[in-house]
Amino acid sequence: MGFLVQLLAFILSLLLVSMRAEDIINSPQPCDFRAIFNFGDSNSDTGCMAAAFYPEVSPYGETFFHQPVGRASDGRLIIDFIAQHLGFPLLSAYINSIGTSYRHGANFAAGSSTIRRQNRTVFEGGTPFTFEIQTEQFNQFKQRTGKFFNQARKSSFRGHFPRPDDFAKALYTFDIGQNDIAAAINRVGTEDSHAVISDIVEHFSKQVQNLHEVGARTFWIHNSGPIGCLPVAMPVHNNATNHTPEAGYLDQNGCVNYENDMAREFNKKLKNMVVKLRAKFLDASLIYVDMFSTKYELISNANKEGFVEPSEICCGYHKDGYHLYCGNKGMINGKEILAGSCEDPSKYISWDGVHYTEAANRWIVNRILNGSFSDPPVPITHSCRALKL
Ligand SMILES: *[C@@H]1O[C@H](CO)[C@@H](O)[C@H](O)[C@H]1NC(C)=O
Ligand SMILES: *[C@@H]1O[C@H](CO)[C@@H](O)[C@H](O)[C@H]1NC(C)=O
Ligand SMILES: *[C@@H]1O[C@H](CO)[C@@H](O)[C@H](O)[C@H]1NC(C)=O
Repeated sequence: MGFLVQLLAFILSLLLVSMRAEDIINSPQPCDFRAIFNFGDSNSDTGCMAAAFYPEVSPYGETFFHQPVGRASDGRLIIDFIAQHLGFPLLSAYINSIGTSYRHGANFAAGSSTIRRQNRTVFEGGTPFTFEIQTEQFNQFKQRTGKFFNQARKSSFRGHFPRPDDFAKALYTFDIGQNDIAAAINRVGTEDSHAVISDIVEHFSKQVQNLHEVGARTFWIHNSGPIGCLPVAMPVHNNATNHTPEAGYLDQNGCVNYENDMAREFNKKLKNMVVKLRAKFLDASLIYVDMFSTKYELISNANKEGFVEPSEICCGYHKDGYHLYCGNKGMINGKEILAGSCEDPSKYISWDGVHYTEAANRWIVNRILNGSFSDPPVPITHSCRALKL
């Protein structure tokens, strides 16, 4: 018996190993995705923090939604474009109770979220919704919707929630880690950054394993973007006009090299994590998506791609070392200033100095959907099929 099982497993592994990326791309059968469950920070928060704490202010949302909708952009986020590409409605935030449907998934992402628990309150720019809490919320969501489904066969609840067998046929997407890297950047010199980054990735791995244990099978994992290219971090917005940074501090795009190096180290370790988990879970499809390179390519070719300089910020007041974030009012040098938006957000990469515009998000998503920045290079529509390549 044991031998037969082993033999079968061996034959199966031969079949799987012989599958190549090209076969998957050419395979006529896209995945039969039933839902999307997303985990992340403000890069993919579609309303969690706005529902939990303070609503977002204008002009957030002005381009696409024509009102603030809890997204840190003028319009759609990458996760929104992914949902639309797969034929789903936009994802509702899990804790948003107004006008939401979870029939095709839920979004657990929350702005400011980190993989590791931080010692910061919401008022210090933190959030209680760490990656661990997000997976815990997912567990509750799965258990409780399952109960409703079984108990209330005719209940009107059923139209609002996924079916129990949708969970194994769902796409699980991840975009988290940037805030952990930012915290590590703030503590450079006071701790061993390499050990910290390894620990962050360990925590990431643990959550992916927890989700696998409760039935998740297709993982689409974004790595971390070039944090040193976020305009608010650039010396040009931080009263560094009289201060010439030492050679090597900035790259040719004005991005802070050592900050990007932290993201690169995280990404390298994250990719190793994915490779390890792939070997461990033969029944799971894990795709590593190189957002860093995609975003960096856009930043490096901003003008050629029809955008203004990548350091420019569409919404907010960031001059002479003063920072007034998008949508806020404040007194600067005795003058009241409203930090409003630029005339044409579609020409900007950065919406508010930290988050990307809808135009940039669209550019990025158009590059990643077909798999050209993924390992293995499979389109998202076929991402469930990258078993043990
Ligand atoms: C939070 O504070 C505790 C106690 O001071 C410390 O041990 C821990 O490392 C801190 N965590 C982070 C992420 O800074
Ligand atoms: C930044 O530098 C300018 C010119 O040196 C100065 O007027 C301004 O007050 C500085 N801003 C801050 C926030 O210190
Ligand atoms: C994916 O799409 C991008 C942008 O449209 C294109 O440049 C690239 O060649 C495509 N890659 C593949 C593998 O089809």
